[in-house]
Amino acid sequence: MDSKKIALVTGANRGLGRSTAVALAQRGARVIVTHRSDEAGAQETVEAVRAAGSAALALRLDISDVGSFLPFAAELGEHLRLWDATRLDVLVNNAGVGIFSPLEQVGVADFDAMMDTNVRGTFFLIQALLPLLADPAGVINVSSSLTRHTSPATAVYSASKAAVEALSRTLALELGPRGIRVNSVAPGPTATDFNGGAMRDDAGMRAGLAAQTALGRVGEPAEIGDAIATLASDSLRWVTAQRLEVSGGALL
Ligand SMILES: NC(=O)c1ccc[n+]([C@@H]2O[C@H](COP(=O)([O-])OP(=O)(O)OC[C@H]3O[C@@H](n4cnc5c(N)ncnc54)[C@H](OP(=O)(O)O)[C@@H]3O)[C@@H](O)[C@H]2O)c1
Repeated sequence: MDSKKIALVTGANRGLGRSTAVALAQRGARVIVTHRSDEAGAQETVEAVRAAGSAALALRLDISDVGSFLPFAAELGEHLRLWDATRLDVLVNNAGVGIFSPLEQVGVADFDAMMDTNVRGTFFLIQALLPLLADPAGVINVSSSLTRHTSPATAVYSASKAAVEALSRTLALELGPRGIRVNSVAPGPTATDFNGGAMRDDAGMRAGLAAQTALGRVGEPAEIGDAIATLASDSLRWVTAQRLEVSGGALL
């Protein structure tokens, strides 16, 4: 990646957001690390980016608070100027919520939390940052392999990620004239804090998922970060409106 590129990764205080920030840094990008309230986690990511040889700064951003997006964009613009820049080259909408319950137990608050963060937040953050996106730029929205296969108790989460994929395709068409590519990356089960850390810590679940996966295990965060950073790179500059599943062949 061009070492002058600047990327913003949401929810980068831990998990796949952190691994994506590091993967982008390893390819030379400077990284804006956003976090909801976990300043310490965001600072760890900043240090990891620096250890990878690049620059980073952390900004607070609650993806469910769309009213904060325009002030955030103004704040971001000021920080970009400190780097002698005016534009973002890469936006990774990674922040997401998964709350898994069978139909009878899904509460309205959980439904709204998933839709507000995964869909509403992703859409309106792209809208708010549009004036700051370079021409060309890359937008990558994090989806899930659950839009292709099914698993019990995941209906609302899967629907929210299907919406993310659908809006990604339409925005690819709308933003294509500016050279802005919009793609989605759909991780399979990956060992993070997600779902209470089950894919990392629950040996029974790991074994079950491994048995359903062509490559025979669950994913590691760096494997998702590397895929996102590669998709964001100029090597894949002719790829837009695509869904890249990064799941080791889950539930084929
Ligand atoms: N791990 C998997 O198996 C898997 C599979 C498919 C897709 N995904 C997707 O990958 C993305 C990252 O997941 P992960 O595995 O890294 O999970 P994670 O460890 O639970 O991290 C989720 C991240 O999203 C942030 N976030 C949630 N709500 C937010 C809000 N309102 N504002 C700002 N940040 C918010 C969290 O911030 P806090 O630390 O403040 O909570 C955290 O940084 C998500 O979109 C998830 O749906 C994960």
